Amino acid sequence: MTVTESAFLRACRRESVPHTPVWFMRQAGRSLPEYRKLREGIAMLDSCMRPDLVTEITLQPVRRHGVDAAILFSDIVVPLKAIGVDLDIRPGVGPVVARPIRSRADLAQLRPLEPDDVKYVTEAVGMLTGELGGTPLIGFAGAPFTLASYLVEGGPSRNHEHTKALMYGDPELWAELLDRLAGITAAFLAVQIEAGVSAIQLFDSWAGALSPADYRRAVLPASSKVLGAVAGSGVPRIHFGVGTGELLGLLGEAGADVVGVDWRVPLDEAARRVGPDKALQGNLDPAVLFAPRAAVEEQTRRVLDSAAGLPGHIFNLGHGVLPDTDPDALTRLVAYVHERTAR
Ligand code: CP3
Repeated sequence: MTVTESAFLRACRRESVPHTPVWFMRQAGRSLPEYRKLREGIAMLDSCMRPDLVTEITLQPVRRHGVDAAILFSDIVVPLKAIGVDLDIRPGVGPVVARPIRSRADLAQLRPLEPDDVKYVTEAVGMLTGELGGTPLIGFAGAPFTLASYLVEGGPSRNHEHTKALMYGDPELWAELLDRLAGITAAFLAVQIEAGVSAIQLFDSWAGALSPADYRRAVLPASSKVLGAVAGSGVPRIHFGVGTGELLGLLGEAGADVVGVDWRVPLDEAARRVGPDKALQGNLDPAVLFAPRAAVEEQTRRVLDSAAGLPGHIFNLGHGVLPDTDPDALTRLVAYVHERTAR
């Protein structure tokens, strides 16, 4: 089977599929003992810069679970680190930025990204497409709003108060910040596409913190710029956020081929909100995997039933795999979706 004709890419294009394709956000990572072993003594961001490690970590869940797509092992803050932003990923915390961006002078931290800044990504993608055979590789980046939240807050945030203070208080500086991030993100995706990824996902994980009116006015232009920049590449674009039930139409409008849906909105209702001509990805609650097997299967059937009438469904969780998830539960879930949907 060629990558182009894989179930995953066929579903992205809303074509008929031999079975519903499955992959998991954060499928590589702490749920896998082989990952924890490989990462011992190596900092997260250092591991992202080593093509040999990136390749091995990316392949681990493909081998173990038989998922229909691989996702490049990296992080949304890698392009920011690559242009010299002083940041780190702290275990159990997330990205932490040394000098948060709150003023016009702080914007100087954000210069454009050049392909040479992320040579290790180009190299890793090249190694992976060689190893993966017919399994597609998904590239990704963080969307401008989610990146801005880390940069302005200085780290993970529940309420995004500094971010919103800037967005409401200095719309001009905000627009400039998001526009720079859009340029960096578009360049980072272009590098991955040029190197050979088969699809890209834009993670706007924290966009659900915004009302539709604010998203449209203050965020959509920057995300549209990113998705528009890669529209001509022929590579499907997945646009995902968490808590985005009220924003699903706008995520599509920003320029997606596939809209990612968290677990809060059933897929048939999500399809109505997104409108025609787009595939959907999702949307089992990641916490369901902690329930007994029969309950996991029951909830999986609910997801599949709500997607039954839709052309173009990619099965996924509504957000990333939780670190304490039993990896065998994930392997069983892949097999179950494949069996239930075999045509
Ligand atoms: O398998 C995959 O999905 C690919 C790998 C991937 C990582 N980060 C690896 C990672 C992807 C797609 C990301 C994206 C990412 N990073 C997002 C968007 C997706 C989402 O979950 O909403 C966000 C918001 C980040 C920022 C970030 N990086 C967080 C919140 C954390 C977790 C902090 C923690 O330790 O709990 C990270 C670190 C990170 N990125 C880890 C992994 C596997 C854990 C670090 C480790 O294993 O030591």
